[in-house]
Amino acid sequence: MNIEKIREDFPVLSQKLKAKPIIYMDSACMSLKPRQVIETMNAYYYEYSGCAGRSSHKLGKKTDEEYHKAREMIAKFIGAKPNETVFTRNTTEGINLVANSIGLKPGNVVLTTDKEHNSNLLPWQILANKGIKHFVLESNNDNTFNIDAFQQILEKHRPKLVSVVHTSNLDGVTNPVKDIAKISHEYDAVMIVDAAQSVPHKKIDVKHIGCDFLAFSGHKMLGPTGTGALYGRYELLEKMHPFLVGGDTVVKTTYINADFEKPPEKFEAGLQNYAGMIGMAAACKYLDKLGLDDIEKHEAELNRIITDEIKDIPGLRIIGPADARLRAGIISFTIDKIPSHDIALMLDEMQNIMIRSGQHCVHSWFNANNIEGSARASLYLYNTKEEAQTFIEILKKIAKLR
Ligand code: ALA
Repeated sequence: MNIEKIREDFPVLSQKLKAKPIIYMDSACMSLKPRQVIETMNAYYYEYSGCAGRSSHKLGKKTDEEYHKAREMIAKFIGAKPNETVFTRNTTEGINLVANSIGLKPGNVVLTTDKEHNSNLLPWQILANKGIKHFVLESNNDNTFNIDAFQQILEKHRPKLVSVVHTSNLDGVTNPVKDIAKISHEYDAVMIVDAAQSVPHKKIDVKHIGCDFLAFSGHKMLGPTGTGALYGRYELLEKMHPFLVGGDTVVKTTYINADFEKPPEKFEAGLQNYAGMIGMAAACKYLDKLGLDDIEKHEAELNRIITDEIKDIPGLRIIGPADARLRAGIISFTIDKIPSHDIALMLDEMQNIMIRSGQHCVHSWFNANNIEGSARASLYLYNTKEEAQTFIEILKKIAKLR
């Protein structure tokens, strides 16, 4: 991969702030957008800007066509079929859709892990108020997935549904979702993957994983904000009742009842984010062309460089396994006596190094571990080795302030 050439595609990176370049290391929260995505969206707004699935005029037809192609592209990107790919606003909406539509009943057990984002915790907590039992699986000491404990909990509690994060936004650890899906199915549990942090960074094939649902977001994979998709096994989608209903979800209504569309349309109520989803498909095309395997390797190499240099900084502790190879493109850390927000503010102030700090929407894990928060650098295809060196150098200066 020619990183310098790739960087030319990202208009944000061509700017200087206070006469210094931007070092963007917050892609786990929000990725930057290449001009190919921005221009595809602009083409929708400038050139056709119609509704899909409704109007028979030329602009409506063009929107229909582009929207249809977008669904094919996004589905293919994760190895799914278009009719198994529901468009959503983000990963959060995908998980909420399953939680509210899968038909769980009081007494049913749902199993998640101790490292879930609030998006894969709160939907189940709310259902717990309605009599669903929610269990949380503890990770190993190094934050990796405890497959033995998982099997024991399945044996003991027989969950109807297992929902786990693929790559954790907290520490970058990737869970063995293929094994988790296989074991879940041996116990007849439906298996959901929160793939918000994996789909942007590694090649994903839902059939290879064998999961029943997989939710991800466009904005973390070079796509527009407010875009996402949910893969669902077709037989399950077919049986599920829609969570949001309204325009374009039905074939026919009378004053007393309705005939719903087939999936995925029955889950996509109201006018949709046409520009957004067409833009998200352009992001898939962009990533596909560069090759996810190379992107994954590039991030791993940068993580290795950073980890090797910062692991022995006095007072610094990396969250998750010591081995960078187990933490994808994420380095989440604390420095004794320096609050995480101060680390982030100093990095930004001193060298425009942009990272995230705090609890990263995984408050439950931080509260359970009695940790105030962490500073988190998250890498992507546009980060360079020089940026990694600058990050190391500035961080060493900050750590000396304690
Ligand atoms: N889940 C996003 C993050 O980790 C918002 O930053």
